[in-house]
Amino acid sequence: MELPSKVRMFEVGPRDGLQNEPTIIDTETKIRLIDILSTTGLSTIEVGSFVSAKWVPQMADTASVLKGIRKVPGISYPVLTPNIKGFDRAVAAGAEEVAVFGAATESFSKANINCSIDESLQRFAPVCSAAAKQNIRVRGYVSCVLGCPYEGIVKPNKVAEVAKKIFELGCYEISLGDTIGVGTPRNVEIMINTVTQQIPLQKLSVHFHDTHGQALANILTALQCGIASVDSAVSGLGGCPYAHGASGNVASEDVLYMLNGMGIETGVDMDKLLQASAFISRALGHPPTSKVARALLSDL
Ligand code: HMG
Ligand code: MG
Repeated sequence: MELPSKVRMFEVGPRDGLQNEPTIIDTETKIRLIDILSTTGLSTIEVGSFVSAKWVPQMADTASVLKGIRKVPGISYPVLTPNIKGFDRAVAAGAEEVAVFGAATESFSKANINCSIDESLQRFAPVCSAAAKQNIRVRGYVSCVLGCPYEGIVKPNKVAEVAKKIFELGCYEISLGDTIGVGTPRNVEIMINTVTQQIPLQKLSVHFHDTHGQALANILTALQCGIASVDSAVSGLGGCPYAHGASGNVASEDVLYMLNGMGIETGVDMDKLLQASAFISRALGHPPTSKVARALLSDL
C-alpha cells in the first residue's frame, strides 16, 4: 500500500512521558514545556491525567497545568480520564478533549486501572455519554496490543474485540498501544489487519514504546498498512508505571526525522521540537533518549 502523504503526530510527552519520570517536574516547568510544544506546529498535545494522585503522583497537578498553559486556537490539549470522577475534574479544569484507556488483557487492566475489562467499559460509558452531551471529544486507548507484562503474547482478536467495544462507546479514534514495546513489524501488520476488520483505518492511531528498539520499524509498518496518526513523546520521555520494563515512548524528533526524510507532511518544525526536547531534558537532568536530539543538539 502507498504511504500516507500526511501524518498527524499526537504528542504524549507531557502525559505519558512525565508520568513515568522518577523526578516529579513542577507545574511551571510542565506549563513551559507545553507552551514550547504549542509553537512547533503539533496539532495535539496530551497534557496530563485526571487519575488518583496516590497511583500517579506525577500527574497530580494536571488541573493547574491545563489552566496555566497558553491554549493556541487549533491545537487540542487532551487529558486522560479513567472514570466519571476524572471526567468531571477534567471539565472543571476546562478540558475540551479527553481519553479513556483500557487494555487488551485482564491482568493489565487490573494493574493499571484496578478493574476488569468489562468493568472498565462500564466506567467509560458514562464518560463518553457525558462528553457527547458537552461536545467534548473522546479518544480511546487500548494497551498491551502486542504483549502484556503479565500474560505474554496477546491475540490480535482480543485486541480487535476490546478496541471495537471502546470505539463503539463513541470514541473518535482508537490508539493501539504497544505498552511494553515488544512488537515487531510482522506482528504489527497482523494486529492492524485484524483490528481494521472492526474499525476503519482512518480511526486508528499507533502508540509505540521503544523498549526493544523496534518503534520506528513498527511505525513504518503501520504507515504501510495505511495508518496516518502516530503517538510519540518529545525527547523520548516516558513509559508506564504499571508496566515493568516499559521504556520511553518513541521520540517525537525521531518520528519527525523519519517522516521528513520520506517526504510525509506533518506541519511540525524540527528546530522548535528540538528546543522543547532540550528544555525538558535540562529540567530532568538527563539527556534525551531521542537519537535525533542527540545528533542535532550540540549543547546537551
Ligand atoms: P480505584 O481504586 O478502582 O477507584 O482506582 P475507586 O473509585 O475505588 O476510588 C479509590 C480512590 O481513588 C478514592 O479516593 C477515589 O476518590 C479516588 P479515596 O477515597 O481513597 O481518597 N479516585 C480518583 N481520584 C482522582 N481522579 C480520579 C479518581 N477516581 C477515583 N479519576 C483509578 C481507579 C483509575 C482511579 C486508579 O486505578 C488510577 O488512578 N490508576 C492510574 C492509571 C494511570 O494513570 N495509568 C497510567 C496511564 S495508562 C498508560 O500509560 C498507557 C497508555 O499510555 C497506552 C499504552 O502505552 O499502552 C495510555
Ligand atoms: Mg503509553
